[in-house]
Amino acid sequence: MSSASPLLELRDWRVSFPGGAQVLRGMNLQLRSGERVALVGESGSGKSMTGLSILGLLPDSAVTSGMLSWKGESCERRSESWWRERRGREIAMIFQDPISSLNPAYSVEWQLREALGRGDPEESSSRVGSSRERALELLRQVGVTAPESRLSQFPHQLSGGMCQRVMIAQALAMRPQLLIADEPTTALDATVQMQVLELLYRVSETRQMAMLFVTHDLAVASRIADRILVMYAGQVVEQGSAREVLRTPQHPYTRALLAARPHLDTPPRSRLAPLEGVVPPATSEFPGCALADRCRESIEACHRERPPWKVNGERGRLCMLDVGERSGSSAGCQS
Ligand SMILES: Nc1ncnc2c1ncn2[C@@H]1O[C@H](COP(=O)(O)OP(=O)(O)O)[C@@H](O)[C@H]1O
Ligand SMILES: [Mg+2]
Repeated sequence: MSSASPLLELRDWRVSFPGGAQVLRGMNLQLRSGERVALVGESGSGKSMTGLSILGLLPDSAVTSGMLSWKGESCERRSESWWRERRGREIAMIFQDPISSLNPAYSVEWQLREALGRGDPEESSSRVGSSRERALELLRQVGVTAPESRLSQFPHQLSGGMCQRVMIAQALAMRPQLLIADEPTTALDATVQMQVLELLYRVSETRQMAMLFVTHDLAVASRIADRILVMYAGQVVEQGSAREVLRTPQHPYTRALLAARPHLDTPPRSRLAPLEGVVPPATSEFPGCALADRCRESIEACHRERPPWKVNGERGRLCMLDVGERSGSSAGCQS
């Protein structure tokens, strides 16, 4: 599988808007078939814009450059009908707010049948009888017990967790090869969140469905993803296997994100300090590193020079500092 071209690839992918907002500043991402990757970063770092790029759903005013390919085919300058062929069938997306993603006017059964019918025009006419069965089967797959009782219900009669399951069932109806999940558990309470994460993991495992999981929470990312990409200001600043990124974070930004989650297992000797401030606006220009102003480990050069992308196997980071130079047991930083 590794020799085949990736399912999805973004290379130096840039998205900007008139008025000078640069929302993606050279995004690089490769996703192989069946692989689960998490995009992690604070609000405003460009995670959703990455997801929307992949679905061809950027606003009309967006200006793009770089490479975006799906199954080895370039996605640039494609017609809306080309995208519609892929959206839902090959690439599906679920969002943070399930209630507003479901149609309040229709029953669960209608919404699932509609999703099943989308891929196959014959479906709605010739297989009406069996599509009820298939809707039930979808509900079972997403862990809904007594699914018969749910079919006639409307979104407002469902809990948040149940809505999310219905939305996942809808997304799975077409057997997509890639599911983009944009903060799908953020609105749920902790127990339900865990159940939905387990469900998504299981579904992607049994169906060999790739997943791009968007979250601001490294702990959530590490539960579901094989690989983690940490984003800041429209770029990937660190990437690696989920395990390694968590155990030995190499970028100051990743370390700061971890510090904001103190209950996570973190390396005992690393100095962790959460970041102050917020992600800079998309209109900002950076002569050096985008993080420099907020980074507790930055040196003078960070404000002047663009950080290099340093790669070592699966591991990569966008930082001019050497690993351990300013962190860990280093005496160079006072706190
Ligand atoms: N239509 C737009 N015009 C200008 N800037 C935008 C537009 N849409 C989003 N942005 C900006 O793009 C940046 C990234 O947004 P987004 O991808 O939604 O971040 P995330 O999902 O990581 O929170 C934000 O700074 C946001 O303000
Ligand atoms: Mg978002």
